[in-house]
Amino acid sequence: MAAIPKTMKALVKRKEEPSYTYEEIPVPEPKEGEALLRVDCVGICGSDIALYKWDAIARVIVASIPFVPGHECAGTVIKCGPGVKAVAVGDKVGVENHFFCGQCFQCKYENGAICRNIGLFGNGRLTQNGGCSEYTTVPAQYLYVIKSGLDAEQIALLEPLGVAHNGVERLDVKGQDVLVTGCGPVGILAQSVAKALGAKRVIATDVEDKKLELARQMGADITLNSKTQDVKEFVLKLTDGVGIDRICECSGAAPVVNSMFSMLRKGGQVCMIGVPKQPLHVENVLQDVVFKALTLKSVHGRLVFHTWEEIEKLVAEGKVDVKKVISHRVPMSKFEDAFKALFRGEACKILLDPSK
Ligand SMILES: NC(=O)c1ccc[n+]([C@@H]2O[C@H](COP(=O)([O-])OP(=O)(O)OC[C@H]3O[C@@H](n4cnc5c(N)ncnc54)[C@H](O)[C@@H]3O)[C@@H](O)[C@H]2O)c1
Ligand SMILES: [Zn+2]
Ligand SMILES: [Zn+2]
Repeated sequence: MAAIPKTMKALVKRKEEPSYTYEEIPVPEPKEGEALLRVDCVGICGSDIALYKWDAIARVIVASIPFVPGHECAGTVIKCGPGVKAVAVGDKVGVENHFFCGQCFQCKYENGAICRNIGLFGNGRLTQNGGCSEYTTVPAQYLYVIKSGLDAEQIALLEPLGVAHNGVERLDVKGQDVLVTGCGPVGILAQSVAKALGAKRVIATDVEDKKLELARQMGADITLNSKTQDVKEFVLKLTDGVGIDRICECSGAAPVVNSMFSMLRKGGQVCMIGVPKQPLHVENVLQDVVFKALTLKSVHGRLVFHTWEEIEKLVAEGKVDVKKVISHRVPMSKFEDAFKALFRGEACKILLDPSK
């Protein structure tokens, strides 16, 4: 393995304004319990856009500036600090970016994904580190070691795939019709997971035809442009007036959330993955929610590490072709091009190569 340099290139969030800076910073030394990774690939996520723009959501999730952004991180372990047993030099790893405390009620009795004292890798919360750098250190307990032969791009995509899987897995989709609202990377991956987990028919909605085209390639049976088509009317016709069995909400659009309950069948199930930016308002709560005796779930991140095990299998067995969501591969030094493409709405998932 090549010698470890003293300095490296990284993106840094320095100021409370729309920007990242491309800098030369020291390569961190792994402390007790930490592993040093060479970052092989890092994906850009919606939250990285919020952090770049420094919008209202960024101000909620970030604890402190400066930090290195990028949480969809694939790496190779190149050095271990004292006391590291869970990983070894040469391991290919994905980073569980929800840094759980291991002590709170959720960590002890439920799952670290929803830790009350959560640190967020790549978000400046309880760690300054992130994946948009040539190297990074991560406490070994947050690393998922890849057992199959997944490549770096597939590993970087496990983080968003895990979110999609976590949502779909809670919906008992086997043999059911599933409506997935929103065809960004998470929605597209949720559709593919729903098919892999045995959904009868997957109906995908978006407001952009280009995104619906990708949804069809990834396995959606029916696609609807909710700008030009009446989704509720279609769903009710498709189901003989019964309503849809399952809804996986991945648009984060408040009007979609507000109206989705009216399309659900009685006894149906909904999972909210998308993050609405406005307050919600359901018009007919009695008819559309309470009298439906529905099940409402939501997810934050992945189940640690159950989800990682499941999604690695799905990708390794070829059941989810995760690379189909990649729209751009960009050298990290050209990160401004990547964000411009995202702002213009031209991109699905963009992967950065930190070595270039
Ligand atoms: N719960 C979690 O842990 C978690 C993790 C990651 C992302 N998220 C959230 O999940 C959502 C999806 O993530 P993403 O990366 O795919 O985001 P994205 O912004 O790329 O995708 C959202 C998609 O919804 C579409 N959309 C907008 N309005 C719509 C409408 N009225 N009807 C149908 N589609 C509409 C957009 O065109 C876009 O394709 C976001 O809200 C994101 O913040 C949640
Ligand atoms: Zn992400
Ligand atoms: Zn905790």
